[in-house]
Amino acid sequence: IIENKIDSLLSIMTLKEKIGQLVLYNGSWDVTGPPSDLGNKEKFEKLKNGEVGAMLNVTSVEATKKIQSDVMEHSRLKIPLLFGYDVIHGYKTIFPIPLGESASWDLEAIKKSSSVAAKEATASGINWAFGPMVDISRDARWGRIMEGAGEDPFFGSKVAVARIQGFQGEDLSNTNTLAACVKHFAAYGFAEGGRDYNTVSIGEYELHNTVLPPFKAAVEAGVASMMSAFNEVDGIPATGHKMLQRDILKKTWGWDGFIVSDWASITEMIYHGFAKDKNQAAEKAIIAGNDMDMEGKAYETGLEELVKDGKVDENLIEDAARRILRVKYELGLFDDAYKYSDEAREKNDIYTKENLEASRDVAKKSIVLLKNNNDILPLRKDLKSIAVIGPLANDKDTPIGSWRAKAVPNSAVSLLEGIKSAVGKSVSISHAEGVKLGVGQRSFIKELKVNREDVTGIAEAVNIAKNAEVVVMAIGEEAFQSGEGRSQVNIELTIPQQKLFDAVWEVNKNIVVTLMNGRPLAITNIAEKAPAILETWHLGSESGNAIADVLFGDYNPSGKLPVSFPRHVGQVPIYYNAKNTGRPLNKDGMVFWSHYTDEKNDPLFPFGHGLSYTTFQYKDFKISEDSFSSGEEITVSVTVTNTGKRKGKEVVQLYIQDLIGSLTRPIKELKGFELIELEPGQSKEVSFVITQETIQFYTANKKWEAEPGDFKIFIGGSSNTKLEKGFSFTK
Ligand code: IFM
Repeated sequence: IIENKIDSLLSIMTLKEKIGQLVLYNGSWDVTGPPSDLGNKEKFEKLKNGEVGAMLNVTSVEATKKIQSDVMEHSRLKIPLLFGYDVIHGYKTIFPIPLGESASWDLEAIKKSSSVAAKEATASGINWAFGPMVDISRDARWGRIMEGAGEDPFFGSKVAVARIQGFQGEDLSNTNTLAACVKHFAAYGFAEGGRDYNTVSIGEYELHNTVLPPFKAAVEAGVASMMSAFNEVDGIPATGHKMLQRDILKKTWGWDGFIVSDWASITEMIYHGFAKDKNQAAEKAIIAGNDMDMEGKAYETGLEELVKDGKVDENLIEDAARRILRVKYELGLFDDAYKYSDEAREKNDIYTKENLEASRDVAKKSIVLLKNNNDILPLRKDLKSIAVIGPLANDKDTPIGSWRAKAVPNSAVSLLEGIKSAVGKSVSISHAEGVKLGVGQRSFIKELKVNREDVTGIAEAVNIAKNAEVVVMAIGEEAFQSGEGRSQVNIELTIPQQKLFDAVWEVNKNIVVTLMNGRPLAITNIAEKAPAILETWHLGSESGNAIADVLFGDYNPSGKLPVSFPRHVGQVPIYYNAKNTGRPLNKDGMVFWSHYTDEKNDPLFPFGHGLSYTTFQYKDFKISEDSFSSGEEITVSVTVTNTGKRKGKEVVQLYIQDLIGSLTRPIKELKGFELIELEPGQSKEVSFVITQETIQFYTANKKWEAEPGDFKIFIGGSSNTKLEKGFSFTK
């Protein structure tokens, strides 16, 4: 029925009106791209003429209603606008940054967080979220690693689907849900040197086996839209990449959603050296299959002429408009253009107690216990004294993280506040900042408000540490050290923070480090010395409460790293699913093997790593058959027992290794995981089914297929598990 409606609408649309649907304007002077050169007055004229299809960064019922009414009351065809916004980890109630939230490995929790974000955003006029970001990244220098699900394509695909389901729900026309936009198509996470927007040189193998799977999963989950990437892929800017967009995404995968460019990425093809001017950029982008122009002003100025000159087939424009109109119909905007403009919902559905509780729940599940020597954690609530030290200890802003949508600055629960409300009045709590972190690069202007080098506060921190039973030290990265345009060459803690740690450690060895950061950090010194480390990311609105839940054992930590933590920036890119190379082994101290002479090869903390306050034993690892052929399946199972004294959760992980392939294969690949919860002493058998689909990959035949041969299979609580069996596959 929708298709018929689109047909009849398209049949009465002029070329200009069709092009209008492909235009996305920014509604405010925002930080996500260079300021627009088009004055607001001109924009409003175009809106009224039906020459704009969507707006971004217009938020609130009042603003969206006003702009929608300009279109509905003045334009000839009254085609409602989409209102897009970067809803990345919450709207006003902020959830953990996506990388952190992925560490929960809890797909239901992840889905819940996106659904709360959708509920809040739609209550404020938004019907299109620019998320989830599904870019696989193995480079901690890249600031946008905080926005994704880490380094693994299988895991990234599952998380992508959970987030899409949370945003879009079962029915896109439900007013609590919105259209998702998976980004950035494609390979943005592979920027050379981890420098944002940089060149991507990636082979076909990596593209198909690592980069594309989460996008394919998103298509299968029915994602409404995608955003093309800023980067080039092997010489072709992604926005003008026909093979990626028109051939793979639209033709081979049969996807009927629409692709929006990234901010001005169509005109940026001029800088890439791929188009000589705006018109040529527009021509290349539309032919390549990019449907909507975000603030590039290339489609609106170029497409009409390009069609008239015969350079662009009008059918391509019609197809792009059709895809955009389809989403508008699916959202129900043609039935009610103002359905997301509900003052009562805006008042009642945003930043509610219930949403904050949901945020706290996901936040505590996202914390990863990296180290816990001598069971220093959990802390007793009747300790005499705790010193809460560090530049992030009483920071109410950093936990909100980058891409914070409508969060109120300084609105998060700080760690100090969380600890104070978790323990009784009898515990003496002292606090010292020790050193300053400074303010990250928030906008176009670099603001350095404080002297980051100042270490004079360390003396006070040492003083309170001396007299405390336990030190909880909050160190890491400020909110805007990660995110778009925030790549770094240094992934260590700042020197003053390292000095602070060392000085405090000298006087009190009972230190629990709570790291707050948006990327994997190389914290080798601290990892050696500190008896306990909690990775707490930027956890969102309820950060301090969630950390306190874990610190005092009200919640037994269950997070696992979705990304490897290097020992040194020089190891980057580092990832568990690497290849073997021809020289993997160190024989008798030989020098000619694949290694560094000054650092180990393995990461500081591997993918999938995360401890608990209890312990788990894996036994009875069984495989139903040691070989299978096409159409058959085998089952692998293992019995996991909680051998400790507390109830706890474990993420049981299944990896395979394809020993010989037509193309070389990774030493391990995640192929399944299950989050289980066990009472002390309780056991559970966990099983995974292996089929041809489990072992297939994009082979030398340039297609996804399972190749006959021998495989290893591993099960355990981390990617470095040694529990191993074998099986073979015959065609
Ligand atoms: O959605 C973002 C994108 O991820 C990066 N550039 C700007 C867009 C809109 O804000």
